[in-house]
Amino acid sequence: MKKTIAVILSIILICGALSTGAFAVGEAKEETLKFNKDGKFKIMLFADSQDDENLEETTSQLMCEALDKYTPDLVVYLGDNTVADGYENQYKAITAATKPVRDRNIPYSIVFGNHDQEHNVAKEDLLKIYQELGGCLTYDADPDIYGCGNCNLPIMSSDGQKVAFNLWFIDSGSNNTDEGASGYDYVHPDQLEWYKRTAKELAAANGGKPVPAFDFQHIVIPEIYDAIHVKLPFSLGDLSFNYCGNSYSLLPVFSRLNGYWLEHPCPPSVYDGQLDAWLEAGDVIAEFHGHDHTNSYNVNIKGIDVVNVPTVGCNSYSKDINRGVGLITLDEKNPADYKYELLHIFDFALEDGSKICEVDGGGSKAHYGFYKALDSVLSVFFEVVNIFKGK
Ligand SMILES: [Fe+2]
Repeated sequence: MKKTIAVILSIILICGALSTGAFAVGEAKEETLKFNKDGKFKIMLFADSQDDENLEETTSQLMCEALDKYTPDLVVYLGDNTVADGYENQYKAITAATKPVRDRNIPYSIVFGNHDQEHNVAKEDLLKIYQELGGCLTYDADPDIYGCGNCNLPIMSSDGQKVAFNLWFIDSGSNNTDEGASGYDYVHPDQLEWYKRTAKELAAANGGKPVPAFDFQHIVIPEIYDAIHVKLPFSLGDLSFNYCGNSYSLLPVFSRLNGYWLEHPCPPSVYDGQLDAWLEAGDVIAEFHGHDHTNSYNVNIKGIDVVNVPTVGCNSYSKDINRGVGLITLDEKNPADYKYELLHIFDFALEDGSKICEVDGGGSKAHYGFYKALDSVLSVFFEVVNIFKGK
């Protein structure tokens, strides 16, 4: 029954504002997402806010200024959202991290990262906090499958007549706890079965055609190394990088990327078959993940855009050259032609009226100006690469 809740919600328009009452983890929130009259739908992405109960003021200010300027229809927190110790502090941390969004009555959804539940509070309890605070659309579609908060949210067409788009939220786990295993967790077979089954239900209700979709999760798919690095026939020791029993070039092939690659991606420690599941269902256009805070590249893997959203958190590791928030603009007439842009902290900080330089932890105008200038210079390099790529 719970597995079909999202599909049922797709065809029922629920009237009224967001309910503020508490509800169980497994229940879908009674909120219908819908394309606007102009056929557009904007999703803002906050990755790795990763702070405790004393949220860095610059993070909060960056969120507020981004929300006010771009007025998204939905916000997605991409995992490693809060890292406070114990229930009370996690409650305060979640309250602080979501306040900019809740204050503006914007619905939001979350996925969990590898760090959220590392502080003596289970993910199920964390999800209840988000839900009790109001505005959170994430629910646990099938509590029997691996992880917490695996769910989907359909977006209705602007005329409200059909499901025009779908959003997947997947718990990509923390650490691989299989016997003898190490490294990061993976998307488990029962999660993929749930995904395929639900995608089929949505397609059946859509005249047999897959409903175009985005996937949001914290950790990137394992195929990232094959996509952006060169696979080597043998290890070169410190001059190569080992992943899943294969050796890869230490640096990626930059012509395969758009944007910054500043650290090695940290995918699951095994090939989990998620990419194959997407290709089989035929619905996923793009995947958005966080986890690797300083990367802001995107790459197309077998027809699916894989997008690393850098951290929004000013109290987590990163650099102000690409710290910021992601923004997706969808057009219901042509969802495959969606627009994605990275909105940099330096652009907000340098705007007239910005308070980012004034709040605790904020840098000076010169600091943000330096990173803007550096980014401008490097953008010329990317343009040249694109010319060689024939774009
Ligand atoms: Fe993180």
